[in-house]
Amino acid sequence: MITLGIETSCDETAVAVVDKGQVLSDEVSSSVHLHAAYGGVVPEIASRFHTEYIFSVFKKALRDAKTGIKDIELIAVTCGPGLPGSLLVGKAFANALSFAEGLPLVEVDHVNAHIASCFISDQEEDMTDLFPFLGMVISGGHTNIYSCRSLNDFSVIARTKDDAAGEAFDKVAKILDLGYPGGPIIEKRAKGLTKHPEIRFPRALLNKKTDVDFSFSGIKTAVLYYWKDCRKTEEEKDKICSSFQEAIVDVIDKKVLRALELTGAERLAVGGGVVNNELLRQRLVLRCQRSGVKLYLPEKKYCTDNAAMVAFLGEKKFKAERVRA
Ligand code: KG4
Ligand code: ZN
Repeated sequence: MITLGIETSCDETAVAVVDKGQVLSDEVSSSVHLHAAYGGVVPEIASRFHTEYIFSVFKKALRDAKTGIKDIELIAVTCGPGLPGSLLVGKAFANALSFAEGLPLVEVDHVNAHIASCFISDQEEDMTDLFPFLGMVISGGHTNIYSCRSLNDFSVIARTKDDAAGEAFDKVAKILDLGYPGGPIIEKRAKGLTKHPEIRFPRALLNKKTDVDFSFSGIKTAVLYYWKDCRKTEEEKDKICSSFQEAIVDVIDKKVLRALELTGAERLAVGGGVVNNELLRQRLVLRCQRSGVKLYLPEKKYCTDNAAMVAFLGEKKFKAERVRA
């Protein structure tokens, strides 16, 4: 079933074509450079960018997939969560296309799609055969753990009480005046550095054994105070990046262990932009090896926002609904 995916929940205008789980094209145009000066996404700028670029991104996705609009059999669009003005552009585009071409339209939850992205490149297993599993999304907007029981049943079992992990990366990068988005920059600056015991940032909510929720705003504030009083050298910035990254990964690792122990899950799928981070990936691999849990991670190109994950999940949801009907 040739499915067109449309994703405009934040600052990426993305369109993809997926056929029976195989990605034929995956086009992304990002307005990230326009937000860099502000240290975070400016909603009005993001939605204007979507309006301006969605049609050309759509045409390029069709071209790359060597398909025409007449080949498309289904449209999948992100319905939320996200910036309202940004979501509106993708949804209006999808509705217009669906009406004009008489195509069925399926709405996809952005966070669920991040979890589904873990299974895109899996040639051997079908995501639908793997329920139940634990799903986790670590992105700029979310740091949540889900109990995933079916395509329509992803229930939250843990969430961040304040900032998401990616948001903490972005805010720390802003404090250190490193640019936006913070995650890739901080990872680069931390690279190759060994641990710095003299800088230890707090790990929140680890005291109570049954607490699986996250809190990352404290780490950000700790970095702010440390930065205020330290020698403001480039070397010091690198050390802060390394210790900050270590603290975030450490918390995620410990909470994942807790969630696995509390639920007895045998499979874990972790998606979202922060999963680009190599230290985090390595730590998750190690944790799951030790716990005897099968881990599913997305290819790096499917970690940050993309429409392939939307089309991929949309196709599965549509087929499952048809079987049920
Ligand atoms: O999933 P995503 O593209 O958008 C949301 O749905 O939020 O995630 C974007 C987030 C940003 O906060 C960015 O700083 C973070 O992912 N990120 C990273 C890395 N690459 C992107 N965080 C840590 N290390 C990275 N390499
Ligand atoms: Zn996302």
